[in-house]
Amino acid sequence: MNDPRENNHLDIREHLKFFSELAAEFFVQGEEAPAPTENSPLKALEERVLGCLKCPLAKTRIQAVPGEGNAAAALMFVGEGPGHDEDVQGRPFVGRAGQLLTKIINAMGFQRTDVYITNMVKCRPPNNRNPNSQEIEICQDYLFEQIEMIQPRVIVTLGNVPTQYFLKTRSGITSLRGKFHDFPQYRIMPTFHPSYLIRNEGNRELRRQVWDDMQQVMSDLKE
Ligand code: URA
Repeated sequence: MNDPRENNHLDIREHLKFFSELAAEFFVQGEEAPAPTENSPLKALEERVLGCLKCPLAKTRIQAVPGEGNAAAALMFVGEGPGHDEDVQGRPFVGRAGQLLTKIINAMGFQRTDVYITNMVKCRPPNNRNPNSQEIEICQDYLFEQIEMIQPRVIVTLGNVPTQYFLKTRSGITSLRGKFHDFPQYRIMPTFHPSYLIRNEGNRELRRQVWDDMQQVMSDLKE
């Protein structure tokens, strides 16, 4: 008979191996929000977003979440829209999914302050539903101004919503992830949304795929 404790040890070893493969063994220290650069065009845009009343999401939000990070980042992450924690704190990706995104960014050898993190829509859709096409259309100019100012080389789109928007397709993230989609000003790398990884916590293959995608991004940025 196998000793069940032995299996347990094996499981733990496997688990640790997996995490070190992901280089996700770092614990996130609750990084500070990067100091906004006063008087910069990006700061002015962020201020405009904070006061935006262009769509009905302004009525239900606590506060708008423009985005944060390096104003000259080579790498940008675009999610769907702020969730509850982001709505409360006014910062993108600070809840559970955000902590996983931070681990991924750290595993890539970056800090959050090295990259720029934002969303398709800047205000929380009620009950964390996906933003609808009208909300995206009304909000999209903010994102495009951010891209124009920051001029990232690579944009990682997290999940279906930003991926389908940038690639103008209805195909799903599973078939779109893992390869670069080239545009004149930047390359898009679609990958799974961290919330999807959390919802499928037992699925190592998904995490391995995200890590593969991020390794491609890292190689590209080194060139
Ligand atoms: N999910 C997103 O898509 N964006 C956030 O900022 C947080 C969670």
